Amino acid sequence: MNATHSPDHPFNRSTRQPAILPLTLAHAADAARLHILGQPGTFLTALGGDVLTVLYRTLPVSPVGYGYAALGENGQVLGFAAVTTSTGRLFVEMATRRLGQLLPPLLARFTRRPSLILRSAQTLLYPLLAGNADTGSGSCAELLAIMTEPAARSQGIGGALLAAVCAECRSRGVAELTVTVDAANQGARRFYQRHGFVYCKEFFLYGRAMALYTRELLSL
Ligand SMILES: CC(C)(COP(=O)(O)OP(=O)(O)OC[C@H]1O[C@@H](n2cnc3c(N)ncnc32)[C@H](O)[C@@H]1OP(=O)(O)O)[C@@H](O)C(=O)NCCC(=O)NCCS
Repeated sequence: MNATHSPDHPFNRSTRQPAILPLTLAHAADAARLHILGQPGTFLTALGGDVLTVLYRTLPVSPVGYGYAALGENGQVLGFAAVTTSTGRLFVEMATRRLGQLLPPLLARFTRRPSLILRSAQTLLYPLLAGNADTGSGSCAELLAIMTEPAARSQGIGGALLAAVCAECRSRGVAELTVTVDAANQGARRFYQRHGFVYCKEFFLYGRAMALYTRELLSL
């Protein structure tokens, strides 16, 4: 499957390419499900599907968030990608505008696994650790997540989602897209390198080695 540079295209019946459409509230629960499938054992996954659904309900309606969903023939979500120009503002919005939805599942998780409270505090330090703290200019964005349904991987869906995200970033004047990936996730690291991301550095978060990559957008 060839990656498309047109962000909004419908399902193509002849080539069977999925539709790449802007991420909306309707995709939130599927995005959370794919996030859990794609990132087992990570901090956000440990927060659970309900908390992740709140994140993916916040992102598409936030001024600092956007993304794309890949939809199959029957409208099923085969993958998604989510971007933010300010991770800090996104988390603050989630905690303020959606507090009622966030608090009950979050408190339930914290009660079951108190160690998650410390990890949540570390999340606040994340922009400093990664060194990609928000400058407020909107010229730099972070790829928060990109996930494809396990059975649909290696068919170009991830590449098509990334192309849509990059096109949207460019149209918003974003010059640089960064991504943090678990250093042990060799498959994802290959994927990013193949798509023009350059390795910057490694740092530790939640006791795990993380690799930071960046891709110039406006010069390409
Ligand atoms: C990384 C990911 C989004 C790529 O999506 P995709 O639809 O398979 O992407 P494409 O088909 O365009 O590209 C496939 C390439 O991705 C890489 N890849 C990374 N993890 C992979 C996996 N688990 N299965 C297959 N390919 C994977 C490979 O380089 C692969 O190339 P290859 O088929 O020649 O080996 C997808 O594999 C995924 O959801 N992985 C789990 C979640 C994850 O790690 N996300 C990135 C961190 S946020």
